[in-house]
Amino acid sequence: MNRTHEEIYRARKQFFNDSAASWLDTWYRDPETGRLERHRKDFDRLFSILPLKAGDTVLDAGCGSGVLVPMVLERITGKGLLYELDYAERMIETNRGLHREENIRFIVADVAEAPLEDESCDVVFCFSCFPHFQDKERAMINLSRILKRGGTFVVAHFESSEGINRHHESCRAVMHDRLPCESEMRALFERAALRIEAFIDEPGFYCIVAKK
Ligand SMILES: C[S@@+](CC[C@H](N)C(=O)[O-])C[C@H]1O[C@@H](n2cnc3c(N)ncnc32)[C@H](O)[C@@H]1O
Repeated sequence: MNRTHEEIYRARKQFFNDSAASWLDTWYRDPETGRLERHRKDFDRLFSILPLKAGDTVLDAGCGSGVLVPMVLERITGKGLLYELDYAERMIETNRGLHREENIRFIVADVAEAPLEDESCDVVFCFSCFPHFQDKERAMINLSRILKRGGTFVVAHFESSEGINRHHESCRAVMHDRLPCESEMRALFERAALRIEAFIDEPGFYCIVAKK
């Protein structure tokens, strides 16, 4: 039976809500050390590419239960501000329970309707979530609106595009969620007035860095 866009959207959101409590353990906890450092080298690489600095305002779009929070806060310090945004209420609930710092604002919203002010963020992250955005064009245009002029927009994964798309095919709730090919991604960025500075798509690492 063909599912409607609405049914696919609801099933995907349900899947993320149902996965919220165990998300960090499933994907980031190192079974040997018991710490959330399974991808420590990948995160070191990602943050070595990004110009995060003390005082920055950052939007973590599709933040889930907040794997990026400690790494972003360490860099923006108490002078910066971090928006943790996700449409899955239980992801935000879990995230809020784990992270109590005063300079975090938690928002439940679809990225395409994220209610932040125009040009209010220095950096917008879409970490490990872009394929799941149902309306990618609306999402990009809204997120670009929120980004300051000269600000940085990042789409990143710890897999190649081919690896991510293969991985999603095996899970019914997200089997339609694809990372578009390079030419489609470039067109999406251009339509959102974002200039791509780096495009890396290699085994184990995918990262687009763009400026507004
Ligand atoms: C694969 S998870 C990754 C979460 C987190 N970034 C991480 O790496 O642990 C994708 C996240 O994107 C969120 N998401 C998917 N579509 C969204 C949308 N349209 N608006 C806001 N959040 C969305 C999901 O709820 C989920 O938390």
